[in-house]
Amino acid sequence: MAKTKTIYTCQNCGAQSPKWMGKCPDCNQWNSYVEESYAAPSGSAVTAVTPQLLHEIDPLKALHIPTKIAEFDRVLGGGFVPGSAVLIGGDPGIGKSTLLLHALKNIARLGKKVLYVSGEESAAQIKTRADRLGVAEKTLWVVTENNLENLLTLIKKEKPDIVAIDSVQTIYSQNLSSAPGTVSQVRESCGQLIAAAKTTGMTLFLVGHVTKEGAIAGPKVLEHMVDCVLYFESDSGHAFRIIRSVKNRFGAANEIGVFEMTGAGLREVANPSHLFLSERNQNSIGSVVAASLEGTRPLLLEIQALVTHSPLGTPRRTAIGIDTNRIALLVAVLEKIVGIQLFDQDIFVNIAGGIKISEPALDLGISLALYSSFRNMAVDPKMIFIGEVGLTGEVRAVSLIEPRLKEAAKLGFTKAVLPHGNTKSKFSVEGMELLPVKNLQECLHNIF
Ligand SMILES: Nc1ncnc2c1ncn2[C@@H]1O[C@H](COP(=O)(O)OP(=O)(O)OP(=O)(O)O)[C@@H](O)[C@H]1O
Ligand SMILES: [Mg+2]
Repeated sequence: MAKTKTIYTCQNCGAQSPKWMGKCPDCNQWNSYVEESYAAPSGSAVTAVTPQLLHEIDPLKALHIPTKIAEFDRVLGGGFVPGSAVLIGGDPGIGKSTLLLHALKNIARLGKKVLYVSGEESAAQIKTRADRLGVAEKTLWVVTENNLENLLTLIKKEKPDIVAIDSVQTIYSQNLSSAPGTVSQVRESCGQLIAAAKTTGMTLFLVGHVTKEGAIAGPKVLEHMVDCVLYFESDSGHAFRIIRSVKNRFGAANEIGVFEMTGAGLREVANPSHLFLSERNQNSIGSVVAASLEGTRPLLLEIQALVTHSPLGTPRRTAIGIDTNRIALLVAVLEKIVGIQLFDQDIFVNIAGGIKISEPALDLGISLALYSSFRNMAVDPKMIFIGEVGLTGEVRAVSLIEPRLKEAAKLGFTKAVLPHGNTKSKFSVEGMELLPVKNLQECLHNIF
């Protein structure tokens, strides 16, 4: 007879300990241990396993089922793959359930049997949202259930093509005594649901809550278990929603899709560069356009900088949409290599539109925006900047230069300042004058 005992589990990383601890030694989180019951495995039944020859295995007939939402299909790598599990996380109220319903509607329209499991909302609430979004498909089933065992029985009986769970933190297994949402419940529920998906070939779509820090709540192992992890994000005060794939076993990671939240649901933004540049004031001091790349998609962004004399002993360095350390580094390069004095200046940098970018190819654009603001001189509004800036002021080559330049040409830009290293192999972009630079000094000398 298996002996039941209790164990303490860290709700942040899933580490376990026989005793309660104030601070998790694995992830350094404070006060994250919760008591859970734990049944020791009772003996182990050994079964023989037979390996298969790799070349004899039939590959997945990877037929993506398209959601017909181009921006969503782009991050999924073409659509839902049968037998796979997709996890989407995002802040409360960002629009996870809305996106899910939009996608399920299109899939149901293809004649697929769709099951929407909601642990958070009543069937009537879902119907209200569906009416608002214009969802009236006849193969869309809804169930409000939190019990894992009941769900698995239902899935076995109904054999749906797609099961969407909103959200995984509300599902609990009656075999575990810990509360829904705890690490062991989430791990157990997901494990069993994913196993069901793999054996029956249904697609599993999981909605996950996020923690205060913005990561998907529950153990990190959850992100390893699923095939695709998506994050839905936005900056408060903006109607834009960005969906980003951080892991995808069937397509490129780091792909983004852009949406706008409206009364009738999420509207796709097919040309985000156009949107991000739409409110730009031409000839503004401290405003520069740079070409970034998210996944395989080029994105033109307006970088705004404000450099102003500081009354404070320690001047302010504030950045929105970009890492402050990156700004500190570029400010140091401008001081040391270019020779301008910024130590007594307040510095603010903003990526217009509320998007967050970590790509170093924006460095040249940021440096130019800072310099433009400091010197009170505007840069040519038809010019774009691409390049990573190193600590010695050198401008380093970036990947995939041509799609960035083509996107810029499409939006009416005529001159591009780019790293010299990217022009080693000859290429040209119609309507675009290329101005290669080796370092920051050369760039500033040519522009101002
Ligand atoms: N009647 C409405 N008109 C316009 N927008 C609405 C309306 N109702 C809801 N919304 C928008 O939809 C958003 C909520 O979307 P949704 O319920 O899909 O979010 P969620 O991410 O599933 O939230 P939760 O974490 O609470 O489940 C709201 O923040 C709001 O912006
Ligand atoms: Mg929801």
